Amino acid sequence: MNEYDSLIIRNMLQKEGFLLTDSPEKADIVIINGCVVREKPENKEIELLKYYKHRGKFVIAAGCLAQKDKDALLAFSDLVIGPMDYDDIGTLIGKHGAFTDYSKHRDRFYRYAKDRMEVSFSEYVTIMTGCDNFCSYCVVPFTRGREKSRSAKDILEEVENLTKRGTIEITLIGQNVNSYFHEGVDFKDLLDKVARLGVRRIRFTTSHPRDISPAVFDVMARYENIMPWLHLPLQTGSTRLLKEMRRGYTTEEYLYIVNTARKMVPDIVISTDIMVAYPTETEEDFEDTLRIVKEVQFDYAYMFIYSPRKPSSAYYRYKTQIPRDIAVKRHRLLVDTVQRIVTEKRKKMIGRTYEIMIDGHSKKNPDLSRGKTRGNITVVVNKNIPEGEILEVKIVDVIGATPVGEPI
Ligand code: 5AD
Ligand code: SF4
Repeated sequence: MNEYDSLIIRNMLQKEGFLLTDSPEKADIVIINGCVVREKPENKEIELLKYYKHRGKFVIAAGCLAQKDKDALLAFSDLVIGPMDYDDIGTLIGKHGAFTDYSKHRDRFYRYAKDRMEVSFSEYVTIMTGCDNFCSYCVVPFTRGREKSRSAKDILEEVENLTKRGTIEITLIGQNVNSYFHEGVDFKDLLDKVARLGVRRIRFTTSHPRDISPAVFDVMARYENIMPWLHLPLQTGSTRLLKEMRRGYTTEEYLYIVNTARKMVPDIVISTDIMVAYPTETEEDFEDTLRIVKEVQFDYAYMFIYSPRKPSSAYYRYKTQIPRDIAVKRHRLLVDTVQRIVTEKRKKMIGRTYEIMIDGHSKKNPDLSRGKTRGNITVVVNKNIPEGEILEVKIVDVIGATPVGEPI
């Protein structure tokens, strides 16, 4: 989501004639497009704003960062600008103030879709914005506003235009893509329509275990160009905590979804987000998380320590937190457990062939290319291959947890 916001900001400024530099030190204007889901990154973003302001730059706070605490930010930023106002960013440069009104013009968010100056082999397409879930720990419904789905016609038009301009991979994005609904079209219908346009690789993220249905897996299984990858945040393996978090599913239901996905979509790769040390988490709750992690055998996972976020409901509800040393210990144990599972799974890739799409190069060694399998697993190839190229590789080794492929 934030990456996508950065692309919009860049596009709008380039249209107004602004130039990019390769380092903030050389720039006159520095924009911090910040995430506020956890406290630590937010503090880092604030430090950066202060640092560049001190160095005489014109400093802009953007993204969710801007939406969260605009008055505080104005003390050390020139401009505070939320996602709904990016269209105007060029004309606002030089002014002082906050532009963060969500109610104003929701549809403007999509103007970028028709207006892209540069198009890459891989592009994001927004299908919905905002979130109505109000998970107890989460700040997103407060920074991104209420859920709103975009019309299927607009989405399909954007995908078609991108394909004409050379895009071969489309990732449909939204906070909760499974609750997409616009004029009788739901997510499975939309996915079906996008697949029929013939894009080479289609992905979507993020899914919500409460809202995803087997009908989506059915569409995934029917189209070769929908990639077998599902990012399905678990958050915790404790049903008690899932309830506290207002996630709307039990551990058993989560397992049922994963098993159904694996039955219906061959070779599906399943990734997740997990949080430890949510207030009141007991050793038993944490053991439940470890148990489900072992049972599911995730292909990869993002793991976090709970961070109290104003104005989420959990921020106000719990007076005490899990002590930091326990939180860190649980996080370490979880990371180690997942790492072991992932490494074992990667080793099983050795000797098999995979279709990968090259999406980058090692900075240190330009002869090393990086690509993603259909299941979204990063593979390194010891050869200089242009970005956007799709090729078959045979996995010959695993270094750390990264498979190494040789072109066939
Ligand atoms: N503390 C820690 N992690 C959080 N996430 C969201 N809010 C918080 C929070 N307050 C994590 C969730 C979510 C991911 C994007 O960030 O795991 O899925
Ligand atoms: Fe936050 Fe929950 Fe919405 Fe995800 S579904 S953005 S965790 S409130």
